[in-house]
Amino acid sequence: MTTDSAKTHSHIMPTYAPQPISFVKGQGSWLYSKDNTAYLEALTGIADCGLGHCHPKVSEAICEQAQTLVHTSNLFRIDWQERAADVLCAAANMDSVFFANSGAEANEAALKMARLYGHRKDYKQPKVIVMEKSFHGRTLLTVSATANPKAREGFFTLDDDFIRVPFGDIQAIETALPQHEEGVAILLEPIQGDVGLNTAKNRFTYL
Ligand SMILES: Cc1ncc(COP(=O)(O)O)c(C=O)c1O
Repeated sequence: MTTDSAKTHSHIMPTYAPQPISFVKGQGSWLYSKDNTAYLEALTGIADCGLGHCHPKVSEAICEQAQTLVHTSNLFRIDWQERAADVLCAAANMDSVFFANSGAEANEAALKMARLYGHRKDYKQPKVIVMEKSFHGRTLLTVSATANPKAREGFFTLDDDFIRVPFGDIQAIETALPQHEEGVAILLEPIQGDVGLNTAKNRFTYL
């Protein structure tokens, strides 16, 4: 692997352990380092670059928007946001969409909605069932839902809110809640990717 960073010190807070390489260009499924070595982009960011890099139509749309209007807040109606929500609702048969900036925020919002549901039902301690070996993000609530001790260590995680069961074990989910407890959500990844690559043995067809 090419080491292309001569710098020995970085001012980036060390929350990740990056590989000693950076990329200067992307095209489709390929990434290029400074010395123009091509790398097949099998990570797609971390699953957030699904359309590949620099597709002409995507680049054109980004450029056009950047030259038209950079940002308006959610204090105003946003036409393109509403159109995207229409498409997503039609595809998923849902009523409404919450747009977030990251996976952690999306999961945090889902967990907050579940807690709000519990609050409205007057539940004392709403519980969310989560899986072993899961990863859900790095905000306080999502890191509490995460299993990996390396991600959780030192953050005083909110463990009373969660019940953890083995991944792919439907019976464990069904029997996870002690009788006096009140469940509000089940949170799981269809395919886990943090501690190894795990597909559930059971398919959660009826969930
Ligand atoms: C399964 C899963 N959930 C949540 C997240 C958090 O997403 P983000 O890094 O966009 O906050 C990730 C990130 O890798 C993830 O893999």
